[in-house]
Amino acid sequence: MRQPLVAGNWKMNGSRDSIKALMSGINAGLSSSDRAQVVVCPPFVYLDAVAGMIKGTKIAIGAQNVSHESAGAFTGEISVSMLQDFGARYVIVGHSERRALYGESDATVAHKFTATLLGGMVPILCVGELLEERESGKTEEVVARQLDAIVTHASIKGFEAAVVAYEPVWAIGTGKTATPEQAQEVHAFIRQRLAKHSSTIAEKVQILYGGSVNAGNAEQIFSMADVDGGLVGGASLKAADFLAICRAAN
Ligand code: PGA
Repeated sequence: MRQPLVAGNWKMNGSRDSIKALMSGINAGLSSSDRAQVVVCPPFVYLDAVAGMIKGTKIAIGAQNVSHESAGAFTGEISVSMLQDFGARYVIVGHSERRALYGESDATVAHKFTATLLGGMVPILCVGELLEERESGKTEEVVARQLDAIVTHASIKGFEAAVVAYEPVWAIGTGKTATPEQAQEVHAFIRQRLAKHSSTIAEKVQILYGGSVNAGNAEQIFSMADVDGGLVGGASLKAADFLAICRAAN
């Protein structure tokens, strides 16, 4: 039985004040008997503040990005050990915004994935197709390529301690969600693809859906057999909405 997981990707949003309010709302609404693992991914500069706010709760912290280098002359970058130093347990790697806006290739993403694992943290690997790729029937081809790049670099064993997030790019921040059936189809495909290397690992890996998940659609999407929770952007910035999504995952 896979544990459900809901991760809030705050992206480049928030301030000291808004984050304090958001976290106190989330803390007040979660219960220690909830089944789902809840993760919040603040911008780097707020990691420390959020770490202080989750003490004594079951919430874990994730980062939105990481360098694959361990230290040195890499201006503006943040290493795995720095994230650990601030109590992060998860790292989002290969988010479509990083791939599209910052030129991260499958190879770069693979290096970040491996660096995260080697540092003892859990990568949340994002995969997903563009609208034109879906419309031309290339969804599986794209997702397979993105997964295979990681398997080649980190081996299937890398997925023993990783989470996968299927995020169709056309659904991110657009209010257009994949239907539960569309999500399930790709999630099952991801599991099958990994099962070619290890059926045990494929069966265990948590696969999250991301792309306009909200309080109204989470329950239906999470009810699908291969959907183990969500990676949530916009709706993770409002405590009530995020809590409703966490409840849907329980
Ligand atoms: P969204 O973002 O929920 O705002 O669509 C999801 C994501 O980018 O992880």
